[in-house]
Amino acid sequence: MNSNMTQQQDKSLLLQVNNVSKRYHEGSIDTQVLQGVNLDVYRGEQLAIVGTSGSGKSTLLHIMGTLDQPSSGTVTLLGEDLYRLSAARQAKVRNQDLGFIYQFHHLLPEFTALENVAMPGLIQGRPRQEVEQQAKALLERVGLSHRLQHTPSEMSGGERQRTAIARALINQPKLVLADEPTGNLDAASGEAVYQLIRELGSQFGTAFVVVTHDPKLAERMDRQLQMQDGILYEQSQPLSVENS
Ligand SMILES: Nc1ncnc2c1ncn2[C@@H]1O[C@H](COP(=O)(O)OP(=O)(O)OP(=O)(O)O)[C@@H](O)[C@H]1O
Ligand SMILES: [Mg+2]
Repeated sequence: MNSNMTQQQDKSLLLQVNNVSKRYHEGSIDTQVLQGVNLDVYRGEQLAIVGTSGSGKSTLLHIMGTLDQPSSGTVTLLGEDLYRLSAARQAKVRNQDLGFIYQFHHLLPEFTALENVAMPGLIQGRPRQEVEQQAKALLERVGLSHRLQHTPSEMSGGERQRTAIARALINQPKLVLADEPTGNLDAASGEAVYQLIRELGSQFGTAFVVVTHDPKLAERMDRQLQMQDGILYEQSQPLSVENS
């Protein structure tokens, strides 16, 4: 109980999703995707979101990452309301504090793996040599030291995904939003990604929100949430047997 209390006291709130809804209007068709989602993400916390296809997981992740606007509700990062920021400030937060791993990698096709990974660091204005060295080290960490000069079309799906993971980490963000980061990977590469997430968490206090269809990955995160019909439910820990 004591250690539990200590953990709670150490936690500070990083990102807060407050009553977020999302509705799409296409002609006469109205699609309600998110219906009042609430979520608190604490510093260094690593949580999984699971749920059936089409339940709204990517939509929520995009809204958390300022890539899509909520129809109503707010998202705050360290107390700042992300959707009330100027476009310039929002872009800065996205580059500096957030890392995004897309469901479909979104690498720039005309750039090499090394250049793709280095890009967010260069955009931030960090020294080229430092950024490139770090990009190389990250690509090595995801098993791609032999693919530095390959462009996305010269890489396999899993290699592209691993490049996208390295890119999300280059600025040591406070929070990484990962949309099925192991979706295209074999078991060994998936395990390497999991280990990387854990290590970054303990080394730099990086928080992760990981959307995944992989129950093994989900159950190894600190907390599991389930998206169902646009509502996010907290799942009880698999090992929790008490009802107190
Ligand atoms: N631009 C859009 N216009 C209308 N409906 C949309 C739009 N984008 C997404 N949707 C709908 O929102 C719902 C949720 O989509 P979302 O991509 O968030 O699902 P998901 O949980 O990530 O699914 P998956 O596991 O297949 O990736 C889907 O039913 C989808 O058709
Ligand atoms: Mg999705």
